Amino acid sequence: MSRREHLLALRRSAPVVLPSMLLCDFGNLAQEVSRLEEAEVRGLHLDVMDGQFVPNFTYGMTIVETFRRLTSLPLDVHLMIDRPEQYIQHFFDAGADVITIHAESTDDLRGALTMIAKLDVGVGVAVNPDTPIESIRNCIDLVDLVLIMSVQAGFGGQAFNPVALDKLRQVRQFAGDDVLLEVDGGVNLDTIAPCTEAGAELLVVGSAIFRSESYVRAVADLHGQALTAI
Ligand code: DX5
Ligand code: ZN
Repeated sequence: MSRREHLLALRRSAPVVLPSMLLCDFGNLAQEVSRLEEAEVRGLHLDVMDGQFVPNFTYGMTIVETFRRLTSLPLDVHLMIDRPEQYIQHFFDAGADVITIHAESTDDLRGALTMIAKLDVGVGVAVNPDTPIESIRNCIDLVDLVLIMSVQAGFGGQAFNPVALDKLRQVRQFAGDDVLLEVDGGVNLDTIAPCTEAGAELLVVGSAIFRSESYVRAVADLHGQALTAI
């Protein structure tokens, strides 16, 4: 299967809960991945932060490569880094199946997205809560996926900002059904159904999975809630 086809597979399985690996136990990655596989997740969301675009640091290519060795699940790589153009090829080589960059992170969004589109990988663009979706309108022809942030990018465990719900609807309206919609930040049992109702197909979840006792139960409950609204 080509990497881009992984995205189509995710779409067919929507709504899909994607664990954000920000809060997992990095001392036991293999075990964390197998617990998530046991919970039947359909992919992993990897948050890359550079301490520049956002005030937090996480990890880079090496950890993406490590996840690649540990699983055949699609890797959804969310780049929260300045000048992402410099690193796109590196994250592709590390094994990303989807590469998402922030509209706010580059002066040449079309150029950066075109670089991603030349690779066999899903192309994503993300917008922070304060960024109007107009900023991505002229790039929509280049992307497979729009990531609507429901918190300011940078940290896990923040409260869901409902501005994301309007933005999901707006993007669906102007971009049509072909674009995959993803939401990220503060998604939990209370906020997940409004997200799917607003059109989100990929639901990124950090704390609501990693701060729970059972990944199997957390993922199943979230998935059940996500389904109630569609
Ligand atoms: C925030 C990250 C998110 C976040 C999700 O910048 O992109 O993936 O960590 O975690 P929760 O679900 O805790 O908000
Ligand atoms: Zn993320």
